[in-house]
Amino acid sequence: MKAGALHLFLLLASNSLLVLAGKDYYEILQVSRGASESQIKRSYRKLAVQYHPDKVTGTEEEKAVAARKFADINNAYEALSDPSKREIYDRHGEEGLKQHGQQNAGRPGGGGSIFDMFFGGGFGGQQEEERTPKGHDVNADLYMTLKDLYLGRELKVVRDKAVIKPAPGKRDCKCKMKLETKQLGPGMFQQFQKQVCEKCENVKLDREGEILTVHVEPGMTPGQQISFFEEGEPVVDGEPGDLKFIIRQPPDARWERRGNDLLINETISLVDSLTGFSRDIEHLDGHKVTIGVQGVTKVGDYQYIANEGMPIYNTAGKFGNLFVNYFIEFPTSLTEQQKQAVRDLFPS
Ligand SMILES: *[C@@H]1O[C@H](CO)[C@@H](O)[C@H](O)[C@H]1NC(C)=O
Repeated sequence: MKAGALHLFLLLASNSLLVLAGKDYYEILQVSRGASESQIKRSYRKLAVQYHPDKVTGTEEEKAVAARKFADINNAYEALSDPSKREIYDRHGEEGLKQHGQQNAGRPGGGGSIFDMFFGGGFGGQQEEERTPKGHDVNADLYMTLKDLYLGRELKVVRDKAVIKPAPGKRDCKCKMKLETKQLGPGMFQQFQKQVCEKCENVKLDREGEILTVHVEPGMTPGQQISFFEEGEPVVDGEPGDLKFIIRQPPDARWERRGNDLLINETISLVDSLTGFSRDIEHLDGHKVTIGVQGVTKVGDYQYIANEGMPIYNTAGKFGNLFVNYFIEFPTSLTEQQKQAVRDLFPS
């Protein structure tokens, strides 16, 4: 099956500040809201293995981030794997679940125990999964402005998705090569391989409309991916690939991003450069930032303003810094009178 037959439309691309009232369980498990139970289960399995404390290496900080993520994944799976809890969550969110008092009920062990329940305390069952064919991943560029990445943004994406559906008739499936031995004569044998198949219900490739909600979170960076498990290309007798949105950002005319920091160029007059100045500039989200220098600003001088850079992804309330590069606008010429006045001001 060929990848690339992807039809994407961005809908209702409204700018909305993300209010992270409760964590989105679907997002945590990287599945769409319409995901099937088995899809949720498989995505959980993949993520839980990836973020399991025994598997994560790196600095203490990276381990702590992974541990939080692991707890979130377990929490989300606990709710979404139970049909009645999932229904409550779909209608009333995390708060609804808390009110029903079902979350974490009778599980003092917290996040770990559901993992053990699932894996029987180990990482068994993975080999079986590795043999299952997996469809192609579908990658889609998601063009965002720097302002979108500053504020965060929720997008509805309408997709024409390829799916495999049952069709009339039977087909060969689960084919295996089998070694057979044939006796040709006394003491003479020939061994040969024969393909043996089972009969399965037929399938056909179909297309299906789908609306996905994509949360672009404040501080996300170009190249970063937002994944939807098994929303990619399907494959017969296997699991679909994943759908991955890749954040892209065309350069901004005024703001330049370097990691979590922002840089701007600001032109000031020669008089301001000598006497000092103060002015308000408008930030990406419209809030005012006061910049200025009390003394003399020389060519090449810059100003550093803490915490006025980009929001730091996944770190609520933390921001990078802002650097303002000053460019001094010199007059192109002076009259004789002005020259004399300057000489009088700065006698050499
Ligand atoms: C700021 O000025 C420098 C030097 O002229 C230039 O290379 C850079 O692109 C400018 N940045 C912005 C955001 O305009």
